Amino acid sequence: MKEVRYGVIGVGGMGRGHINMFKEVKGLKFTAIADQVQENIDKVLEDHPDVKVFKSAEDLVGSGECDAILIATPHYFHPELAILGLENGLHVLVEKPVAVTTKAAAQMNEVAAKHPDLIFSAMFQMRTNPKWAKIKQIIDAGMLGEIRRIHWTATKWYRPQAYYASGGWRATWKGEGGGVLLNQCPHNIDLLYWLMGSPSTVSAHLSLGKHHDIEVEDEVVATLTYPNGAVGVFIASTSELPGTDYTEIVGDKGKITTSSEPNDQFIWEDFGKSIRTLTYEAKEAWPKIDTVKSVVTAGGDAKHTHIHQNFVNAILHGEELFAPATEGIYSVEIANAMIMAGIQGKTVDLPLDQDAYEDLLTKLITESDAKKNS
Ligand SMILES: NC(=O)c1ccc[n+]([C@@H]2O[C@H](COP(=O)([O-])OP(=O)(O)OC[C@H]3O[C@@H](n4cnc5c(N)ncnc54)[C@H](O)[C@@H]3O)[C@@H](O)[C@H]2O)c1
Repeated sequence: MKEVRYGVIGVGGMGRGHINMFKEVKGLKFTAIADQVQENIDKVLEDHPDVKVFKSAEDLVGSGECDAILIATPHYFHPELAILGLENGLHVLVEKPVAVTTKAAAQMNEVAAKHPDLIFSAMFQMRTNPKWAKIKQIIDAGMLGEIRRIHWTATKWYRPQAYYASGGWRATWKGEGGGVLLNQCPHNIDLLYWLMGSPSTVSAHLSLGKHHDIEVEDEVVATLTYPNGAVGVFIASTSELPGTDYTEIVGDKGKITTSSEPNDQFIWEDFGKSIRTLTYEAKEAWPKIDTVKSVVTAGGDAKHTHIHQNFVNAILHGEELFAPATEGIYSVEIANAMIMAGIQGKTVDLPLDQDAYEDLLTKLITESDAKKNS
């Protein structure tokens, strides 16, 4: 194969956003789209009059026009469409979140495991910011020592009411399965997982429609504990303007802080020694440390095109994926756990009880339907 024939399923805002980037991706040949909304199809045809149009994903997948599909529909459809693509021998790139529930992601992963020859990637473009790759390298190399605490404020996701009104599926249990945790924060939660692994417990204060006329969460304050005893705080909101994008990772031997301004830098404080050792060996009451503080400029930024190029390169040349879609289950699980913990007012253990979460979501959808019909 010299080029990858690409089909896009779902050509709404993001699907068309991706299509506009395709000219920057080497080895990608845009051949087909599937959507039911004629207005969205027409917008694609304005610039791509030769693209093949299908009214269903099944028709596109069975057409023989594509080697790979990009799934950019509302989230609930992601696993079923990924399974459709994989079972029909197509490489799949799925938008975030990879699924709404951990159970649906697990079912998708089971199918993916049967097709190891197919490339299965997720649109977690924030992983392509060299800053996060460098931070991960530092943590994995043990340069911060054992991680003790992470703090993440992800409130740069402001959305007005008009945004929520822009699509009937948005901000509903039935159409989206959650709010800020399912739509905006999958990127941050994916990085949280990527850097820290899965937590062992999650507690959360979840505000449903606190600042907007919506039924799902628009503000979250969650606390996490990790298997090694580390603790975490994760704060998310779509109601703060200007918001904050701030991360602090504290280890036994060093600390990293970073924010989105500037988005290519972080501050690394090397304590020069283990604080745990110091705590037990210091003879004086207020020991000092010689911290070396550096501002690290990693350069570059996150780009969707990096994920597309990586996906195409993986298909054509076997390049390693930045974001294997099978890893997407972990950010879904953390989001599910935060919602469950917040709604039930109790600490949730991970691995998540997938059936219990399905029951909770079904209950939320049923209650929402009943309210609308009353
Ligand atoms: N990676 C990112 O930075 C990023 C940014 C925005 C949105 N997204 C993700 O992209 C997805 C789509 O979001 P959006 O804002 O473009 O939504 P949207 O409502 O603008 O577009 C969704 C499109 O999917 C179509 N669709 C729905 N079901 C379909 C089906 N079964 N088959 C074919 N087409 C179908 C709709 O008709 C619509 O045109 C979401 O999952 C969202 O989380 C990712």
